This record gives sequence, structure tokens and C-alpha cells, in this order.
Amino acid sequence: MKRLCLLCFTAFCLFSLGACQTERKAQTLMKPSTFGALADGREVHAYTLENSAGMSATFIDYGATITSLSVPDRDGVSRDVVLGYDSIDGYVNGSAYFGAVVGRYGNRIGKGRFLLDGKEYRLTINNGENHLHGGNIGFNKVLWDTAILEDSDTPAVRFQYVSRDGEEGYPGTVTLKVTYSLTDKNELRIDYEGVTDKITILNPTQHSYFNLSGNFNEKILDHRLMIEADSFTPVDSGLIPTGELLPVEGTPLDFRQSQPIGARIDDPFEQLALGKGYDHNWVLRNYTGPGQVFKAAELYEPDSGRLMTVYTDQPGLQFYSGNFLDGSAIGKNGIAYGLRSGLCLETQVFPDSPNKPDFPSATLKPGQVYRQTTICQFSTRD
Ligand code: GLA
Repeated sequence: MKRLCLLCFTAFCLFSLGACQTERKAQTLMKPSTFGALADGREVHAYTLENSAGMSATFIDYGATITSLSVPDRDGVSRDVVLGYDSIDGYVNGSAYFGAVVGRYGNRIGKGRFLLDGKEYRLTINNGENHLHGGNIGFNKVLWDTAILEDSDTPAVRFQYVSRDGEEGYPGTVTLKVTYSLTDKNELRIDYEGVTDKITILNPTQHSYFNLSGNFNEKILDHRLMIEADSFTPVDSGLIPTGELLPVEGTPLDFRQSQPIGARIDDPFEQLALGKGYDHNWVLRNYTGPGQVFKAAELYEPDSGRLMTVYTDQPGLQFYSGNFLDGSAIGKNGIAYGLRSGLCLETQVFPDSPNKPDFPSATLKPGQVYRQTTICQFSTRD
């Protein structure tokens, strides 16, 4: 009898252990919490995804923003690798777009004007004489609706924003969904889906500032970057593309082989002077059309060994080396974010494409669905 009980007990333990392991493998935890409140009283919520490989990501519904991204280094020590704020006030008052989804049009539109079907539209001018990142109240400055998707093996958080006809000058009511998921392969996956009721333009992107060292007092100049691009779109003094594509060969914008970001950033090269560093759109060579995801870039931080590989289905990548950070933004843990303490890799249609017939188009018509998939995959290297 005793022996039978012992056998039953052992079997029960083994069964429970097995069940737990299956559950643990498939389960990614999610903990909604209150992040703060807006001036009008609406609450802002935070959602955390965790995987079984040591990564976690936190998002808020204000701006569909990534507020933290904890990634293991080569010794398995996880640290937050994205710039941001401790409280909602930082996001509401800040002007650097930390971690947010920017839109309706990520990046610049020259003079804030464009033609669609022969009609001219005028957008808010908020960057010199140009339009930048959706205007004064872009997608980064609004509260999105949230849905938690727990059905699949990889739970996700989905934010949705309805941008009304005429907002910041854009035609048509646009509904955009952005879905974040974190896989057990340490991939942060970002899926976008947008529709409109009138012809319009749509080009949202994710504006996280990465510093893979996890130490935001350090500049990103020792990070090594590789971009799968043979050419870039040169800009004028307002950072509007001239319309040409220039080969990267023989220029400090050549990242075909992995290079330390700081190696050539101060070279006497006109495009670097105009951008105050790197702030350009690279033409991704592996782009073949909508829905085809390919490798776009690799970012490596030698001290920690953290490596981020970016995959996307977009034609362009804006590499911005944090040239406008000047210590005035006080971020998480009271750290003042200094010049080049973070960098952005923004997957997109080229800047000012509505005024450049030869660039890939950002036009969206009723009945069409805008889609983008971008994946940031994390690993380590010795
Ligand atoms: C983008 C632009 C930069 C700058 C930042 C925000 O990356 O390309 O010029 O405006 O956003 O500061």
C-alpha cells in the first residue's frame, strides 16, 4: 500500500512538472498596470510581455510607446536598452519621440504640402518649414485603445488609434492597429495594419532610441552598425531628400560592412554636416515589395555582446544617431540624455515620398490595407 502511494505521488509530481513546463514554455506573461493619468483625467496603462529567454518589454497606450526593453547580455544579465521616461509627464511634454509610434507620416514632408489625385493638402508645419512625424499632435501624443491577445502561443498587446479626417491636415479617417509581441526567440515583433475611408498617405514607424550597453550615460559611438544598403537618399539643409539616390561607396554612410558608429561621424562630409551626424534614409537592397520580410540591419554593442538584428518589409531605414539629444531630456532614473546617447533605426517608406514620384509610394486608398512587419531580434556575440 505504502509503495503504491509513493508510486502515485511520484507519478503526480512528474505529471505536474511536465504540465508546468509546457505551460511555462508557451506562456508569455502580461501585467496591466496604471502608468499615470493625462491632464483630462484619462488613465494611461502599462502592459508587460515576458518570455522564457530572459527578455521583457513594457508598452503604454499613450503613443503606443515602448517604455522599456530588457535584454540579456552575453553573461545573461538583462538590462533596459531603450531610452524613455519614468512617468507619463515626460512623454506628454517631451519632444524626442522616445519609444513611440510616429505618424500619420513618419519623418518629413517638404513644406508640409503634397498632391493626391490632383488636390493639394497642407499639413501642420512643425519642423522649420517642413512637416515632421505627423505634426503637433501626431500618433505619439494620443491615447490609443488596447486589446490583449492571449489566444496564441505568443500573447500580444494590440493598440488601435482612429485618426480623424483632417487631423494635422491629412485627408481621410485612418484606423491604425499596431501589435507588439515578444517571442521565445527574443524577437520583438511589430505588426502594423491600417485602413482609410478616403485617399490618404500612411507611413508609421517605431521611434525607439536604442543604447545596447544599457548604460544611458554612455554614447552609442562604440556600437557597430551594419545596414543592408548600397545607396541612401541625400538631403538638403531642411533634411528633405533631394530626390536622388547616392551610392554609399566611398562615403561615411557606407555601413555595408559593420562599422563603429563613431569612426567617421565627424568626417568632413557635407551630408553629415547637414544631418549634424547620421540622420538619413538608407535604401534597403533586399526590398522586393509589400509583405516580404528581409534582414535590414545589425547593431552590436561590443562590451555587453548584445546584438540586435532588424528585419522588415519596408523599403527604407532612417538611421538617426541622436544628434538632437542635448541633455535637456531627463529620463529614467534621473539620467539626462546627452548627445548621441541613443540611436534610432526607423523602418519606413522614404521621407517626402508624396512629393517624389520616383520613391516608393505611401499612398493608401479606401479598400486597401496598409501593412508593415518589423522585427527586432536580440542575441549575443562574444
Ligand atoms: C527622426 C528625424 C530626426 C529627428 C528625430 C526626432 O529620427 O529623422 O531628424 O527629428 O526624429 O528628434
